[in-house]
Amino acid sequence: MALTASREGQEPLAAPLVIVSNRGPKDFVWRDDQWLAMPATGGLVSMLAPLAERPDVRWFCCVSEPPDADAAGLFTTAADQTGGPLPVTPVPLPASVYHAYYGQISNEVLWMLQHLILGTRGFEAVDAQRHHAWTNGYLAANQQLAETIRSSCSDVRAFLIQDYHLYPLPALLRQRFPDTPILHFTHIPFPVPPRMRLLPGAWREVILRGLLGADVVGMQTRGDADAFLDCCRELLGCSVDREKLAVETDDGRLVRVRVYPASADPAELGHAMQSPAVAEARARMKDRMGRFNVIRVDRVDPSKNQVLGFRAFGRLLEMRPDLRATLRFSAFLVPSRTDLSVYQTYTDAIRATIREVNDRFETDCGAPPIEIYYTNDREQALAAMESCDVLLVNSLQDGMNLVAKEWAVVSKRPGVLVLSETAGVAGEAEQAALLVSPLDVEGTARAMSCALDMPDAERAARLERLRNRVCRWTAADWLSAQLSDLGIE
Ligand code: G6P
Repeated sequence: MALTASREGQEPLAAPLVIVSNRGPKDFVWRDDQWLAMPATGGLVSMLAPLAERPDVRWFCCVSEPPDADAAGLFTTAADQTGGPLPVTPVPLPASVYHAYYGQISNEVLWMLQHLILGTRGFEAVDAQRHHAWTNGYLAANQQLAETIRSSCSDVRAFLIQDYHLYPLPALLRQRFPDTPILHFTHIPFPVPPRMRLLPGAWREVILRGLLGADVVGMQTRGDADAFLDCCRELLGCSVDREKLAVETDDGRLVRVRVYPASADPAELGHAMQSPAVAEARARMKDRMGRFNVIRVDRVDPSKNQVLGFRAFGRLLEMRPDLRATLRFSAFLVPSRTDLSVYQTYTDAIRATIREVNDRFETDCGAPPIEIYYTNDREQALAAMESCDVLLVNSLQDGMNLVAKEWAVVSKRPGVLVLSETAGVAGEAEQAALLVSPLDVEGTARAMSCALDMPDAERAARLERLRNRVCRWTAADWLSAQLSDLGIE
């Protein structure tokens, strides 16, 4: 049997299972005023890492060649990803190509479009520079990945390809590995046809035909799967079967579309909650939080809708003077994509909103009521999730939202989830959370008020419903369902 070419420090493998993602397992963490390379804690990486521990797996990821000094710390380089315990093959891209692929197309266009952030705070226009970034960044990066995989692996058991950065890749790999099972999973909401039409025709054709290179197209929710089927029918003229969830391609292949809701890992969370690091964070946070606490835990991102969340908290303090002395809002905000101006502007807007609410209520509350923790200290966030009264997740759009699922596993108080109806997890949390429309500031304030008044027995019953669902469908189930659909045990 053909072997995968040996790389430095890696044994050759017979027909490995290949994961391909933009991010590798290491990430930069902003801590103590500096960036540190550490194991990534984001959902995508944490759900894939257990698979990568298998001896028959290879993981290809994109990295930037060392960027200029100003951008240092934002991108991992090949040296950051290698040398760890996992079988990672970093694919280096010139810094300018990486920026065009990851920043200018994946995040400034696709992320914004798929999270419905249109206009000045998000996706505005496709100009000549953007077309250049598409061809010389996004397409070039996908081609480079396909080329590197082809030259490193002569035989592959199956491909698991991740997310919106890599839509063209299934079709590129299909040309080189015609008989290898390929699954692509999109972690973020998939656009319905009218929204997809906001992209140039040639781009959406590459996106859809790229995905159709896979045998299985994986989505977070049934709504995302339907959106993909509708795009294939309306924009490509493919024949689709909405009951069997399948698309027939021009060359007569049948592509299955499947729903795999991302989930948390209750066993790993159980261990984390027993760790000295969480014990230390618990002790530290005890003094810093209020008697009653609203919290939020998310990356700084317009899709997370933090600004309206803080405005809703201001409205809550306005309508409930009785809460002012005892209620605090701790916001655990993870720095994200900080080289992109839309993220810088949004961070400024968040800070201005917090200042405005704090200035208004500081005297009545006896201290600024909103405290921001601008860091990705997972243990600190877990300690706060365990003891909070309310977790606010008011995303404009969200593929799933794993924070809500992790909270359901670790909450002890018990807390209440105030959740945007437009987050993927909302379908699973209908009987558990208080659902809000993300633009409804008044409704969000009222939902937080109702959550804070909710008797413990009702809080516990609601929490239990979501916890049971998460424990019945975990991150391991997300993965094993995909492997099983590819015919792999
Ligand atoms: C979302 C995406 C992931 C991405 C993560 C963090 O969850 O679906 O693909 O990795 O956000 O974003 P970043 O740009 O920091 O990788």
